[in-house]
Amino acid sequence: MDNTSYIEISKKAYRSNIRFLSKVVGENVKISSVVKGNAYGHGYEQIIPIAEEFGINHFSVFSAFEAKQVAKFSSKKTDIMIFGFITNEQLEWVIDNEIEFYIFDLDYLKKASQIASRLNKTAKIHIELETGFKRTGIEPEEFDEMILFIHQNQESFSIMGLCTHFAGAESIANYVRIKSQLLLFKKYHKYFLNNGINPKYLHTSSSSASLIYPETRFNMVRIGIAQYGFWPTPEVLITRNNKYGDKESSLKRVISWKSEIMAIKCVKKGEFVGYGNSFQASKDIKIAIIPVGYNNGYSRSLSNRGHVLIHGKRADVLGVVTMNTISVNITDIKTAEVGDEVILIGNHNKNKITIASFSEMSNYLNYQVLARLPENIPRFVVE
Ligand SMILES: Cc1ncc(COP(=O)(O)O)c(C=O)c1O
Repeated sequence: MDNTSYIEISKKAYRSNIRFLSKVVGENVKISSVVKGNAYGHGYEQIIPIAEEFGINHFSVFSAFEAKQVAKFSSKKTDIMIFGFITNEQLEWVIDNEIEFYIFDLDYLKKASQIASRLNKTAKIHIELETGFKRTGIEPEEFDEMILFIHQNQESFSIMGLCTHFAGAESIANYVRIKSQLLLFKKYHKYFLNNGINPKYLHTSSSSASLIYPETRFNMVRIGIAQYGFWPTPEVLITRNNKYGDKESSLKRVISWKSEIMAIKCVKKGEFVGYGNSFQASKDIKIAIIPVGYNNGYSRSLSNRGHVLIHGKRADVLGVVTMNTISVNITDIKTAEVGDEVILIGNHNKNKITIASFSEMSNYLNYQVLARLPENIPRFVVE
């Protein structure tokens, strides 16, 4: 181990997820694989080649920096789309390299047109519409000006997509809002069509909507978390289960994260573990120290809540997650020794540690913990 922990990426699990998701969305719907945040912590270098091997040829990222990472590890035939931030300086690289990008601002559209004509290229744009998420997205009052500008500068643009983003399709509590966004999107699409703008792709759905709202799939979906084997929320899984009989195992976790025991200690009844007084032993216990802390991406919010697997048994995190270590209870794992394997995320036979199992509220931790896994943790692809 060249660091204090390492990550394994299962090719078999990834293939199984892509097969499952392809079946769910159907063959006429393109899957754009969302690989922002170092492929949700899995590693661009590891995920992109296997995604391409299993038929993915469109990737989505948030920034031009991330697009460069994808370009480094993908083949020439792969399309890359930026749905977030591009600086003025980066826009030239983006257009010159035929990277697709979102337009949600008229000034930006004008800048893109100038650069495209200077480079003698077409800017591959996806027009993002504001339908109720209130993040980015062009407002309806600006549609006419945008449409006019595109017609006047036709040679500058290739209209790759018309799109929007839902305000939380993973929760039934947002049902009304999502439906209203969808209605607006369809209405706006008609408006663009009637005004001579016919985009190649229509896309609105991330993992949740792709899984549970078939009418939102159109001809492209942007799938992040599900391709890595995580259900966005239990609600999404339950909905799929009720309607289609899908099981939790229909998606398979691709990542495993492992470390080893660094030290073992006995703690007497009444003694505290680690910083402060958040954990006091109510009886004599034995603890193992693991060299992974929040500096290594092990969220501090898992203090007194997380678990790891040692010898296939669950060991609870005791006390506060420190910058470089966690302490876990191994009182019932009698044979544990210094140097033994510790599974931070992953499974050992039937026992498993999924990030979401830490607590009821922690589905968002899937995204957060994954995205915070530092790039310097070594990652290996395993079959
Ligand atoms: C615009 C957009 N599309 C797609 C996704 C992918 O979402 P998920 O990981 O839930 O599939 C995201 C993620 O934040 C996003 O911002």
